[in-house]
Amino acid sequence: MANDAYSKLMDLYSEYSIMGQVDMVIGWDQNTYMPPGAAEMRGVQSSIIGAMRHRAITSRKVKDLLKEASREKELTEVQRSSLRWLRREHERKSAVPEKLVMEMARLEPVSIQAWIKARRENDFRQFLPILEKVFELRSKMAEHLGFAKTPYDALLEDFEPGMASGRADTILKGLRARLVPMVKRIVEEGGPVDDGPIRKGYSEKKQYEFGKQVLLDMGFDFNRGRMDTSAHPFTSGTYDDVRLTTRFDRKDLRPALFAFIHEGGHALYEQGLAKEFYGTPLGEAVSYGVHESQSRLWENQVGRSLPFWKHYAPFLRRTYPNMKSVRLEHLYRAFNMVRPSLIRVEADELTYNLHIMVRFEIEKGAMEGKVDLKDLPEVWDDCYERYLGITPPSVSQGCLQDIHWSMGLIGYFPTYSLGNLYAAQLMEAARRDLRDLDGSIEKGRFGTLLSWLRGNVHSKGRLYMAEDLMKRVTGKPLGEEAFISYMRTKFSDVYGLAL
Ligand code: CO
Repeated sequence: MANDAYSKLMDLYSEYSIMGQVDMVIGWDQNTYMPPGAAEMRGVQSSIIGAMRHRAITSRKVKDLLKEASREKELTEVQRSSLRWLRREHERKSAVPEKLVMEMARLEPVSIQAWIKARRENDFRQFLPILEKVFELRSKMAEHLGFAKTPYDALLEDFEPGMASGRADTILKGLRARLVPMVKRIVEEGGPVDDGPIRKGYSEKKQYEFGKQVLLDMGFDFNRGRMDTSAHPFTSGTYDDVRLTTRFDRKDLRPALFAFIHEGGHALYEQGLAKEFYGTPLGEAVSYGVHESQSRLWENQVGRSLPFWKHYAPFLRRTYPNMKSVRLEHLYRAFNMVRPSLIRVEADELTYNLHIMVRFEIEKGAMEGKVDLKDLPEVWDDCYERYLGITPPSVSQGCLQDIHWSMGLIGYFPTYSLGNLYAAQLMEAARRDLRDLDGSIEKGRFGTLLSWLRGNVHSKGRLYMAEDLMKRVTGKPLGEEAFISYMRTKFSDVYGLAL
């Protein structure tokens, strides 16, 4: 009887999930090939799909079936987990009134436009009223969703299910305490690193060919995905239709290549989800942090490693004759240069997390009423001074640089740093489980690493919560130790310091 309720629920969820996939395809199109004049029309299309999905998951029918299914005692692990996610989705979506959902949806395009203009004109004041509105609506949403300690938790839950901000706070503060002195030492004693050799001239065509080869070597299946360009690289789609994008800088090798690898990591996760979970609550990535761990693992732990470049340096020199005389060591150091900088998306692997902490502290403070958004530029600059030792010369290069808050994405930033930590801990476990991982990377063979990730992370989908998954795979809960030890080893090597 109740199992009948379960299968009915799965049918309903499958419609909800597949409508989401349709929404992803039109979202991808919006950011790649859609003519600009179609923006308004696309907005209407998306909001209709959004409303349909909202109605589907919050329906009376789903509510009744959930009640019925909960009486069943003999459920398998997969069924229990599926029901847990479905119930969570139903309850969270039902908690927020449709009126508020629509108000937020209407504000978003206006707010993004206002942010673009304010950033261009380097004028925070004109953006402030809209920013305050965004935070006000998110606060209302948090009130509806409910929370134990801080309204921020209600928002973080959307991106990192199961992680209370107190826990994220402890981990990230621990990380900051270790990183700030490390960056300081590198800046003061590390000596210069020359990235000249990777800032020459490179045709887009050659950059594309090089990146595509790396992506193929990583195991990306072009029969079930495609690669395009966009202003900001991203990955969209899932299972047999995964779309990723990159962007080219003709004077710098890094943006395109590392976007290929980073987005490739996201894409491999989506292509590696278990077939039997397709269209069910388990057929999705477990959290934004774990998703980001996959991109960071490939981009940094693999793509910026010495074994990786031992394999690709000859290929690089063949592709770009102007790099013929660049030595491997030089290349490795150039790809791992540490320098406190103003812009998050251009930051190196080490200082990147400090950029995240600034945002995390501020958005959490604003949600708790401890930071007045009117003071945002000063609060921002003060954090940059304390953590990175630099002061933004303008709000465009300071608190207006990211699109996230204008889109209402509050609680998203910490997942970037959590992703780095998950990645380091996973890579440590992979090194424990796999013999001579560096040896295979050096030969350009990534199959063993990919199979390990497939078996331990990708194919699990949302069977376990992120923290639980981490404990099962790595033997311990998430912490900063693995990342710190990885940073210490790598940058001691790059800078010849005992960090
Ligand atoms: Co990413």
